[in-house]
Amino acid sequence: MPAVEVTGSQWGDEGKGKIVDYLAQQADVVVRYQGGSNAGHTVTVDGEEYKLRLLPSGILYKGTLCVIGNGVVVDPKVMLEEMDAMTKRGIDVSGIRLSNRAHVVMPYHSLMDGLGEELRGNSKIGTTKRGIGPAYQDKAKRVGIRVCDLMDKEEFAKKLKENLTVKNIELERLYKHEPLDYDEMLKEYEGYAERLRPYVCDTIFLLNDALAAGKKVLFEGAQATMLDIDYGTYPYVTSSHPVSGGIGVGAGVAPSKLDTVVGVVKAYCTRVGSGPFPTEQLNEAGEKLREAGHEYGTVTGRPRRTGWLDAYVVKYAGMLSGINYMAITRLDILDDFDEIKMCTGYKYRGELLNEMPASLKVLEEVEPVYETFKGWKTPISDVREYDKLPKEARVYLERLAEVTGIKLGIVSVGANRDQTIILEKNLF
Ligand code: GDP
Ligand code: IMO
Ligand code: MG
Repeated sequence: MPAVEVTGSQWGDEGKGKIVDYLAQQADVVVRYQGGSNAGHTVTVDGEEYKLRLLPSGILYKGTLCVIGNGVVVDPKVMLEEMDAMTKRGIDVSGIRLSNRAHVVMPYHSLMDGLGEELRGNSKIGTTKRGIGPAYQDKAKRVGIRVCDLMDKEEFAKKLKENLTVKNIELERLYKHEPLDYDEMLKEYEGYAERLRPYVCDTIFLLNDALAAGKKVLFEGAQATMLDIDYGTYPYVTSSHPVSGGIGVGAGVAPSKLDTVVGVVKAYCTRVGSGPFPTEQLNEAGEKLREAGHEYGTVTGRPRRTGWLDAYVVKYAGMLSGINYMAITRLDILDDFDEIKMCTGYKYRGELLNEMPASLKVLEEVEPVYETFKGWKTPISDVREYDKLPKEARVYLERLAEVTGIKLGIVSVGANRDQTIILEKNLF
């Protein structure tokens, strides 16, 4: 089974980095297909932490190709900083490939991301301020600058001039901000272009050729279903398609080529930024989840909102992405709870729902239906076989599989690569 996709099933930070790193042991190619440096994927090997924003989580394996696909918006400064940091730690970055069609995140994108949020006031999205929304906005508006433009000195100078002229008017008139300097930006980005040039190629053909040659390709989703611009809690979402179908547009690989979809499911729920979160616990239980799980953002350091596992959301993610197996993460964070709750459905004005409400007004009003489980009250981080997990933990997981109709594939009981229980050996 050569094409496997890993996708977030909740609101992000489920532990996709850990699961991708684990599965990447068997992969020839690991691919990011959407999002940008708003992602923060942590991989831990032998107690050493690697925080990745743009580079695929396969980077720790020598010889693995790490592709940044056309659907990603790339901040060259962040990418080069990440590559330098990896090189300093002895990691080989020669396997990186950057799509010539990917869009470039420019300094005005990140700046306007922040200024735009300020302007929205109380209805701000709570973005990561990495320029993601503004970069995708320019892409859709057909004024964006692509990596192939960045590689062409003349074309880049022309496109930057056109863009910056308009952005500076916007900056000055709308945001009352001083204009950005053309010459400085041109020089800075020409430098990035030269450093990135050796890695740039047509990743669409590279990926399709790899699949045709029987190579194992692993797709790494960033963000998650509930942050998808179509399926999430719009407008409190990101600007791309984290669902598995995103590979069609973001990597140039047809959905029919995908063999297996792994949905990463955190054993409870978190959300950073604004927007509805039906199982949020603004109480002692939520506080305990935050402290036990050290739930503070990788990219921004913000405290994450916390709540009980929402199986209704996971089931929805399963339908949208065609998830075949769940990879449950952070089960160990629940080690010390007397009682654990799981939401199995939503009620709206007394009626059980069969859909995910599009209207945020409705979603804000839904009542989660909870089932309560007995905690296992014992550390599980050293367990390596499913049958050796405490019975209470298995009951919890098996009920999740039942409610969602999705099989358990992996259970993660710690951040380290080896703290992983495998139920399905043949994911590739
Ligand atoms: P991602 O954005 O989906 O890749 O997730 P993040 O990396 O932002 O957040 C997940 C955090 O949980 C990271 O710090 C991981 O190292 C850590 N992690 C992953 N799996 C486990 C696990 O099973 N147990 C514990 N305790 N930590 C985990
Ligand atoms: P990973 O890949 C969690 C959230 C932001 C905000 C909304 C829009 O690590 O799971 P954006 O900067 O994308 O315009 O912000 O999406 N968000 C994430 N939340 N994990 C992420 O990535 C996220 N990327 C964006 O907090 O609510
Ligand atoms: Mg993250």
